[in-house]
Amino acid sequence: MSPSTPFDYWIAFSRNIGWVTETEQALLRAKRVAIAGLGGVGGSHLLTLTRLGIGNFNIADLDTFELANFNRQAGASLSHVGRPKVEVLAEMALDIDPELDLRSFPEGVDADNVDDFLEDVDLYVDGLDFFAVEARRRVFAACAERQIPAVTAAPLGMGVALLNFLPGKMTFEEYFRLEGQSEDEQLLRFLLGLSPAMLQAGYLVDDSRVDLEAHKGPSTPMACELCAGMAATHALKILLNRGRVPAAPWGLHFDAYRNRLKRTWRPGGNRNPLQRLGLKIASKRLAQRSATVATEGEATADTPIERILDLARWAPSGDNTQPWRFEMIDDRRFRIHAHDTRDWCVYDLDGHASQIAVGALLETIAIAASGEGLAAEFQRLADAPETAPVIEVRLRAEPSVAASPLLPCVRARTTQRRPMSGRPLSAAQKAALEASVGPGYRVIWIEGAARKWQMARLLFANARIRLTIPEAYQVHRRIIEWDAQFSEDRIPDRAVGLDPLALRLMRWAMHSWERVRRLNRYLAGTWIPRIQLDLIPALRCAGHFVILSERPLTGIDDYLEGGRAVQRFWLTATCLGLQFQPEVTPLIFSRYVEKGVSFTKRPSAPAEARRLAQALRQLLGADPLDAVFMGRLGVAPVPAARSLRRPLADLAAEAEH
Ligand SMILES: Cc1cc2nc3c(=O)[nH]c(=O)nc-3n(C[C@H](O)[C@H](O)[C@H](O)COP(=O)(O)O)c2cc1C
Repeated sequence: MSPSTPFDYWIAFSRNIGWVTETEQALLRAKRVAIAGLGGVGGSHLLTLTRLGIGNFNIADLDTFELANFNRQAGASLSHVGRPKVEVLAEMALDIDPELDLRSFPEGVDADNVDDFLEDVDLYVDGLDFFAVEARRRVFAACAERQIPAVTAAPLGMGVALLNFLPGKMTFEEYFRLEGQSEDEQLLRFLLGLSPAMLQAGYLVDDSRVDLEAHKGPSTPMACELCAGMAATHALKILLNRGRVPAAPWGLHFDAYRNRLKRTWRPGGNRNPLQRLGLKIASKRLAQRSATVATEGEATADTPIERILDLARWAPSGDNTQPWRFEMIDDRRFRIHAHDTRDWCVYDLDGHASQIAVGALLETIAIAASGEGLAAEFQRLADAPETAPVIEVRLRAEPSVAASPLLPCVRARTTQRRPMSGRPLSAAQKAALEASVGPGYRVIWIEGAARKWQMARLLFANARIRLTIPEAYQVHRRIIEWDAQFSEDRIPDRAVGLDPLALRLMRWAMHSWERVRRLNRYLAGTWIPRIQLDLIPALRCAGHFVILSERPLTGIDDYLEGGRAVQRFWLTATCLGLQFQPEVTPLIFSRYVEKGVSFTKRPSAPAEARRLAQALRQLLGADPLDAVFMGRLGVAPVPAARSLRRPLADLAAEAEH
């Protein structure tokens, strides 16, 4: 515009006339709107409402523009980086209507200035950051007290969710019920209250970008513009008293991506049973996410060996015992000091379960090394006892080494003990899994209703042995961490796979062997866990698998190699998006009876194990002694509770050899 062009309100906003009358336009000009927050939505609100011809504003924001605002915030541009948002937006609005009466609050809204901020105000339009829960509560409460209508339009995905809080109707606090809640819970309640329809949930392509802790989330420019359009429309209706305006607990959610508009109605707000259910599900998802985040951790390792070990410690081990320590030799060599748990763990017959775990560790080291362009060579030291093997690892720079495709799945791999989808594996999935074990091994599948039923019965019988021998009771007592979602050195009770009631019963019983016996004898105490942990999940999975060695498994080196194959198979399953649950105890009890080794004081257990071994042999059509590993697979959510690992510093070993 040339500086000589005189500003004329009636010409500038003449194209509104038709949709509003001239009288209404004059009314809008006389109104004062308060906007707190001039970021993603607030800046657009100000500019849209200015173009609508609103004549007076109170605007508040304490932030300055930065590069990361560019994708969505009105006013975010190179010439404005580092400048206060309130100042830039005031200039932009005044450039549209120089006759505006603008009151700026560059310190944001707080308890001290909320009175001034809402003085003379006809309408409040919320532009606060999603995470500014406290400030938002304060402003909405002050609006309710002063009978000021308040509009909030939230950018969600590529859509907008709108709620109006009108005088005399349900208040913000009555709707969202944030009082007394933790910050995470408040954010969850705010999100779910805003968008009960959750139209946006289906197309979030990378949920790792939602970071509640860092107060960051993805947001699109389209959503911010839709918010401004929706909020200004409702502002017009409220200010001009035109047409019906939905007030909370009614809301509107329009999603431009999904082409859907939903009118939502949640009487009681977040107290509504539907909302409560939604909140429960969302909390669970959040917990699952934090499980993933917990495994991601902070990368503190800075040498290749540290990075390799930091990743390799995520190898699985029976009962999460992590039977290994690491001794650094130089920047290309270290030693693994392993130990087995046969002295206290009935499941570690001849140390084989620990050896499989150490094998999984070796494979993980090789995979982690490939990410550094290094090849790993392993040598088991002959002079170390078999119960405490020592393996020297040499890393060699090798130009031909490419990063293993399994590398991204090392931390994501986990154990899922709960029921999964019964959808069978595809031929391609089975082929990838069969190829993963490598030469010298083959995979037997146990699929289809009839074979899965046989397996379920077998596991049910096997679980009776597990739950009635005192030797296993000692192990279970030692390896469960109670009241825990995560455990660094054991299995958290919530990852065991029991429902909360059964878990409470188990916890009570496990106080003493006497209680277990009483429960088992008088209350059929083994039935609940056997049904929940064995029978149902054995049926509700894609199928069971057995990894068989083509050569007899004779000693530690065979089990170490076998463990490497198991880890390739497990990681391949993870990369295929499948969940995985080991079922190795039937193999162990079978091995005990086949080898004639006594494993329990309970007199009738060996006979039960013998029957189990026979049933297993029949089901596999192979010798259970050749089996390295057995388990089940399927599609299921990532478990919310899981075992974590000891920090690398705790796994450091002093030189012993
Ligand atoms: C050799 C071996 C045997 C295992 N046996 C069982 C088992 O019988 N039942 C079970 O629920 N988990 C079993 N696990 C899984 C471990 O408990 C699990 O890997 C460990 O707690 C770490 O948890 P994560 O796999 O979720 O990282 C076994 C793991 C290994 C390596």
